[in-house]
Amino acid sequence: MKSFWKDNGYLVIEDFYSKEDCDNLKKRAQYLTGNFDQKSYQSIFDTNKEYHANDNYFLESGDKIRFFFEDKAFDENGNLTNDKELVINKIGHALHDLDNEFFNFSHRKDLDNIAKSIGVLCPLLLQSMYIFKQPRIGGEVVCHQDSTFLYTKPETAVGFWVALEDANIDNGCLWVASRAHKGPLRKLFTKKNNKMTMISLNDTPFEKTDTPVEVKKGTLVLLHGRLPHYSCENKSNKSRHAYTFHVIDGNADYPKENWLQRPNLPLRGFI
Ligand code: FE2
Repeated sequence: MKSFWKDNGYLVIEDFYSKEDCDNLKKRAQYLTGNFDQKSYQSIFDTNKEYHANDNYFLESGDKIRFFFEDKAFDENGNLTNDKELVINKIGHALHDLDNEFFNFSHRKDLDNIAKSIGVLCPLLLQSMYIFKQPRIGGEVVCHQDSTFLYTKPETAVGFWVALEDANIDNGCLWVASRAHKGPLRKLFTKKNNKMTMISLNDTPFEKTDTPVEVKKGTLVLLHGRLPHYSCENKSNKSRHAYTFHVIDGNADYPKENWLQRPNLPLRGFI
């Protein structure tokens, strides 16, 4: 497994979580969404339009539990086109610290062992997201490298991605550019003159992102911070719920220019 990870920049571990674990987390996300008053704030997460670069509701969500909608969630009058449970894009970004169910799902000794065995010697959980990938309107996530958004010096970000439902090509599974984690970091989302900006570090086009990661419910997928990956729009009738969290190494430097800051909530490890 270690050599597959080293060669390819990702790793699939089947049946890491039980079906029951997955169902409990889905129920918890449903409960949190049900209690969210959508009139309190309406924020759209769309990686094509990048509204979030100027959106304080997004930029200040690193130490909170906040709710982001699909681009297609609203009509021209700003009203929701469907029940909020069916048009929400994701919840982020401190579920793993602030909600008990998510805390227990994320803080496990076996995850700590995995992180350490792939070289993250002092793993700290930086962020978490519950991704709904709604039927028919679940938006595309354009090709990117996670280190663009979760940058450390040296780079240490690793994504832990959990399928809470079967993910396949039809319902918008992950696609990765296998082995391309050995290429350069292309972009950096960083603060300049008090404003978040996307700067180009290297113009080399992304390698072909041609490996679909079709996995069953309960599968854990590890993603190297430099691995180019994306997911298509979900045009099917089936949702594709996933829970993902990212770790960084506490021995690396975490720049204050990164979008995600947690001034009042220190980072914790898995255990
Ligand atoms: Fe990503």
